[in-house]
Amino acid sequence: MHPPSRPPTRGLLRFLTCGSVDDGKSTLIGRLLHDSQQIMEDTYAAIARDSRRHGTLGEEVDLALLVDGLEAEREQGITIDVAYRFFSTPARAFIVADCPGHEQFTRNMATGASNSDLAVILIDSRKGVLTQTRRHSYICSLLGIRHIVVAVNKIDLVGYEEATFDRIAGDYLAFAASLGFTSIVPIPLSARYGDNVAARSGNMPWYRGPTLLEHLEAVDVSTEADRLPFRFPVQWVNRPNQDFRGFSGTIAAGHCAPGDQVVVASSGRMSRIRQIYTADGNLTRASAGEAVTLVLEDELDIARGDLPVPPADRPPVADQFAAHILWMDEEHMLPGRQYLMRIGTQWVPASVTSIRHRVDVNTLEELAAKRLDLNEIGFCHVSAAKPVPLDSYADCRATGAFILVDRFTNRTVGAGMVAYPLRRSGNIHQEALLVDKAARAALDHQKPVVLWFTGLSGSGKSTIAKHLERMLHARGRHTYTLDGDNLRFGLNKDLGFTDADRVENIRRASEVAKLMVDAGLIVLCSFISPFRAERRAARDLLEPGEFLEVFVDTPLEECMRRDPKGLYAKARAGKIKNFTGLDSPYEPPEAPEIHLRTLGSSPEELAERLLERLIADGYA
Ligand code: ADX
Repeated sequence: MHPPSRPPTRGLLRFLTCGSVDDGKSTLIGRLLHDSQQIMEDTYAAIARDSRRHGTLGEEVDLALLVDGLEAEREQGITIDVAYRFFSTPARAFIVADCPGHEQFTRNMATGASNSDLAVILIDSRKGVLTQTRRHSYICSLLGIRHIVVAVNKIDLVGYEEATFDRIAGDYLAFAASLGFTSIVPIPLSARYGDNVAARSGNMPWYRGPTLLEHLEAVDVSTEADRLPFRFPVQWVNRPNQDFRGFSGTIAAGHCAPGDQVVVASSGRMSRIRQIYTADGNLTRASAGEAVTLVLEDELDIARGDLPVPPADRPPVADQFAAHILWMDEEHMLPGRQYLMRIGTQWVPASVTSIRHRVDVNTLEELAAKRLDLNEIGFCHVSAAKPVPLDSYADCRATGAFILVDRFTNRTVGAGMVAYPLRRSGNIHQEALLVDKAARAALDHQKPVVLWFTGLSGSGKSTIAKHLERMLHARGRHTYTLDGDNLRFGLNKDLGFTDADRVENIRRASEVAKLMVDAGLIVLCSFISPFRAERRAARDLLEPGEFLEVFVDTPLEECMRRDPKGLYAKARAGKIKNFTGLDSPYEPPEAPEIHLRTLGSSPEELAERLLERLIADGYA
């Protein structure tokens, strides 16, 4: 290794390479690592040996082996989506994000791009601007990359021809004009022979621009981050004893100094910064990327997830906003389903209320869509369970980015970029009423609750609920039954049985159930409600103790045998599609409050058992 004799002068540049192995991506990265002389001598010797043995270039050293070797290693272990490589020159230190794979391209690219300042887009001189070039560029622009290098590679294979380079550069500039990049620098190069990578090529006297490395060393990305308004997502409240209270986190954007006024974005409470603590002592100024603990002049109620900001530059605080979402899960996104959103340092339940359009990443066309599949990008409206401070991603990546996580699998299923808050969000306020739930319930001498019956079609949900309601009524309880079939004649008559429609069906039903609990009623809900996520969302709408999940557990064979409405017979004859238990899934509850195994008991007996339980628990 040849460590630079003095520290790099321009700081760190993070960049991403986009292209396929065929375009010479591995060779280009290998060439950069090699020519910047940061390859350990022995690694290089081993590669030289290997490339004589396995390489495709005769006596030449195949630099792609530097990169592909690592890739092969990766394939054996756990899949790492993005590989980061480090190198430096006396002028600058670099981190290259290399995103392998064609298949999972969007996800991999997004991971690499989300923290890169610049992208090197590889184009094969013989092929010119391709669909994938457009795709990569669009994703880069969406993910906030502002600087592009168009590496017109394999220029040796077109005889180092100026005309070819000019044509490709012109095509690219024309296409990328709408993508809003700050700088686009086309460079003719040959990764294989090193022309214009680190060393100026003697083969292209017509080219007077910088070499790739010169440009990477010189490009000014002095991120915007430091010039942005101060953003400090609080990670934790540091309170070792009564005398000290600090707020710890990493500055996401901008800078701060003792004496600066700050306001907590969501509560509007104000104070001043008294001190900035770090592991290495107090600072007189701190900026983006630094991990600090802020001590304020006043005792403010600040918790994890809060965002102190300058009073003059407050972000909007909203629970409804528009965003681009990149879907990253095998299971498609369903509007209406509740996911967990992490934005800044906080977790908030959120759902996509509508997909305004899907973007075809190859043509940039906006298409209508009902759902998003793996690797698709949609422009969506999002609704969060509570208002959160939001910057648009284009203004500030750190506070405008979010991820969506599946509540059950904990997989990250989507990555989002905030576009703007929706106007309706700020204009609707909860109206506090003078008679509340407790008052209404007290008048009835009852404890309002939802009994949520779930199970296959024909399992006996509605029949048991019917008997139970009669018994409750006889005891003088005020009840109401929400039944899947009945609601589909009115409120839900626009819905069918696709996954998306079932999600919406249960979302509406649970909102109605919540209103009825608020009205003080005992509500019996009878829906197949096949998905755990929606049953969980229904539960989350209510207070603890107000939602009892009743699993009406009847084996599919028994339901098919009973077939009270003849629907199983029709479904098996192919006359009904997406029938639960046949060609549409049912996810049984994992921890229902009440588990009713129906085999061997009559609906009356089961209702009787339920009633006893409700009496014992003080509901009836
Ligand atoms: S849910 O899946 O969205 O919760 P819901 O409980 O409202 O379903 O409606 C289920 C009822 O619709 C069933 O009891 C059955 O009578 C009828 N039905 C019609 N088509 C289907 C289908 N494809 N799958 C399940 N139930 C169906």
